[in-house]
Amino acid sequence: MTNIPNTFGLDVKAKILAEYHSIDELRALLEQYKGERILHIGAGSNLLFTRDFDGVILHSAMRRARSTKEDAEHVWIEAENGLVLDDLIAQLCDMGLSGMENLSYIPGEVGASAVQNVGAYGVEAKDVITEVRAIDMSDGSERTFTNAECRYGYRDSIFKNELRGKYIITHVTYCINKTFDPKLDYGNLRGEVGENPTPSDVREAVIRIRRQKLPEVGELGSAGSFFKNPIVPREVYESIAANYDRVPHFEQDGGIKIPAAWLIEQCGWKGKTLGGAQCYSKQPLVLVNANNAIPDDIINLAAAICADVKQRFDITISPEVNYI
Ligand code: EPU
Repeated sequence: MTNIPNTFGLDVKAKILAEYHSIDELRALLEQYKGERILHIGAGSNLLFTRDFDGVILHSAMRRARSTKEDAEHVWIEAENGLVLDDLIAQLCDMGLSGMENLSYIPGEVGASAVQNVGAYGVEAKDVITEVRAIDMSDGSERTFTNAECRYGYRDSIFKNELRGKYIITHVTYCINKTFDPKLDYGNLRGEVGENPTPSDVREAVIRIRRQKLPEVGELGSAGSFFKNPIVPREVYESIAANYDRVPHFEQDGGIKIPAAWLIEQCGWKGKTLGGAQCYSKQPLVLVNANNAIPDDIINLAAAICADVKQRFDITISPEVNYI
């Protein structure tokens, strides 16, 4: 058994952990381990291993990026799945190219970020992804998905639903801007960024904000936001607003998004510990491995928080992380 890398810092093991450096190596591994349970992971930054994994964990060591097309306004960058997303963003910002700077410092790799449609500060991966290339795990054939075919939603895609466990994304193409049109409307981002910012200025501001609120990977185990923000019918929001002062809320997808962080804080969980797991004191949407947590500590804390939010607000909050 070998240790599975995961940003929660949980001590979990798999039968085999195999890394590949090319599509041919990936196909050979899929052939070799046919019949085994196979899970492809990125940096393990959005996974909760509930127990040891009785199967094969695959990871990509393909980390290149290249431009495939260019016009006066844009450049299309095709990145391999194992490239660290933030390394790509840093390089693009250094070149004065924009579109992904708001996603700076999100942990994880290119492939997983396209499964999860990661997002931050008013930008989601789907806003810049034009297509993804993927390998069919059943026969090794390649398929290209357009952005529309990926059926992106809030932290969601076809690869988390109908095609879950069926394809491995190997390449992601992003349409990147040569002219900078900063997106600064989220929260206090505009206030953090000076006048006439460059993509790098926005990147640095985003990193400053994230560092204030979110645990640093490698210092304190977590998987970023543990829950998704619920989107509720307007009547539900109004009934809460009638009983609480200044309920934070945002119009989204025809409903009202209420930050899960606020719901959890109202339930008194912010900073609270259960076993080795803790509801993070600077951002209660995040659960952390505060003291040698075992998977059950995180599972129990998440369940207790969900139950309290349900009881107090009659809202079901669901995990953003994938339970394995
Ligand atoms: N809030 C509280 N108490 C707190 C913290 C926040 O009530 O202690 C409320 C405030 O009203 C605040 C609101 O929550 O205005 C939103 O907080 P924040 O801007 O930190 O964002 P979030 O909705 O909690 C989402 C993403 C984050 C992303 C930020 C910024 C999800 C599940 N999470 O968090 O993504 O960085 O917005 O865009 O949508 C992640 O996915 O791992 C992640 C960190």
